[in-house]
Amino acid sequence: MFGIVKVPIIGQGTWLIEGNGGGNHHHNNNNHKIAIKTLQLGLDLGMTHIDTAEMYGNGRAEELVGEAISGRREEVFLASKVLPSNASYEHTIKSCKQSLKRLNTDWLDLYLLHWPSGSHPISETMKAMEKLVAEGMVRYIGVSNFGVVELKEAEKALRNERIACNQVLHHLGYRGIEKSILPYCAEREIAVVGYSPFGHDGSLFFSSSSQSKGGRLQLLEEIAKCHGKTPRQVAINFLTSRHPSIFTIPKTSNPDHARENSGSVGWDLAEDEVSSINKAFPMPDHDGPLEMI
Ligand SMILES: NC(=O)c1ccc[n+]([C@@H]2O[C@H](COP(=O)([O-])OP(=O)(O)OC[C@H]3O[C@@H](n4cnc5c(N)ncnc54)[C@H](OP(=O)(O)O)[C@@H]3O)[C@@H](O)[C@H]2O)c1
Repeated sequence: MFGIVKVPIIGQGTWLIEGNGGGNHHHNNNNHKIAIKTLQLGLDLGMTHIDTAEMYGNGRAEELVGEAISGRREEVFLASKVLPSNASYEHTIKSCKQSLKRLNTDWLDLYLLHWPSGSHPISETMKAMEKLVAEGMVRYIGVSNFGVVELKEAEKALRNERIACNQVLHHLGYRGIEKSILPYCAEREIAVVGYSPFGHDGSLFFSSSSQSKGGRLQLLEEIAKCHGKTPRQVAINFLTSRHPSIFTIPKTSNPDHARENSGSVGWDLAEDEVSSINKAFPMPDHDGPLEMI
């Protein structure tokens, strides 16, 4: 869906990839090593879309990704993001150059505006994005956390390039984007990359001690059992298999979890299973604001 580039349905997120302490200088060396090993295993397993941002760990996540992909850059579909507060024309270009340096690469496959900027007009940011494409530093331009109205403004601001991707929150408890953002993006051939597929803290719906109200975990477990899969694999399959233009980027720093996540696609849920998941995790009537069910 990124033009002629093939991007795997399941990629790898990197927010808090080193744990909560990733932003300070006293980071845990062991966490660092395991995170790198896990990302590399993820690449071996085909999860070659790596998502990072200048914001994550204040640049540390990008440095870690740079280490992880060293020597295998060509295999990776690499995405990073500029902070909205840095999204002026000049600073977008500066931020991109800094990200490239930390990632130890000459190009980003995808560069996103992290969320709509209150301080810089979208036309300025998009102009900078087009300049970055013209200079060969960026292949595709994208946005994140954009609604349809904001997307249209971003599209209008572009002269030579197009919006290739909108990265948005998408998990079983937050399917609001399926209402109008997803159809709009599908029509415009904008890839939708869903983030926080496990609801960010990872236990949402998947731990019996959390909010698995109304037998939802049990449902996922039953379906999982029929396929020799896990509830998380069922969730990711459900989130990504019903639309051709939707991707997902779970984060893990645990090799076993990377293996599990990579096994979420390549098999089909039955129609009646899809409808029971739809019933247990219904789509809200409207797009947002962020709404948990
Ligand atoms: N554009 C944006 O505004 C935005 C916002 C949020 C996130 N994102 C991107 O999306 C990525 C993913 O979202 P997220 O990090 O918020 O949350 P997530 O992927 O929904 O969940 C991550 C949590 O799930 C756990 N986990 C992952 N796989 C697991 C498995 N197989 N079994 C058990 N636990 C598992 C992880 O722990 P372990 O590490 O221990 O496996 C971690 O605690 C981010 O890393 C970031 O790249 C973008």
